[in-house]
Amino acid sequence: MVYPIVIYGHPVLRKVAEDIDRDYPGLDQLIADMFETLYRSEGLGLAAPQIGKSIRLFIIDGEPLAEDEPEMAGFKKVFINARLTERTGEIELMAEGCLSIPNLREEVKREEHVRITYYDEKWEFHDEVYQGYLARVIQHEYDHLDGILFTDRVSPLRKRLLKGKLSAISKGKFEADYNTILAGQKIKA
Ligand code: NI
Repeated sequence: MVYPIVIYGHPVLRKVAEDIDRDYPGLDQLIADMFETLYRSEGLGLAAPQIGKSIRLFIIDGEPLAEDEPEMAGFKKVFINARLTERTGEIELMAEGCLSIPNLREEVKREEHVRITYYDEKWEFHDEVYQGYLARVIQHEYDHLDGILFTDRVSPLRKRLLKGKLSAISKGKFEADYNTILAGQKIKA
């Protein structure tokens, strides 16, 4: 099934998500549904809080960006109970967007390299290093698990300028080709 996407302003996006264990009910189906939701909304990555589940799970499928960013080709992964153990290298500035903040793109500073530990969908443990665009996407999705959104990481000046836009988005003033949930709207289990 395709989940609606939780929009900026909803408190679930601000929670620190919790680890899950192997017997988390319906995990395989949830992962399949998250990919379906990701494809439906034409995103690159989706974190569980964005569908209203405050658990440490996110997915990435880089294929839509493969033409511009060759490293993203064929990159399709599930990250469970992830921990970013290192963020190093140069700070790079690049525009980002987010399914939870429709119609907004802003330049965000991120470290160039990350090291991340996580379990995949088969509960195999990984300890991996990424750089460049993948490191950026991973940091963006990982932030969702800690209740952080990319607009928290823009410059103080931009933050002030964005206030009105974000408030409008939180009230449903945006165009999106996918179903959404606003603050105050109920999330179905
Ligand atoms: Ni996002």
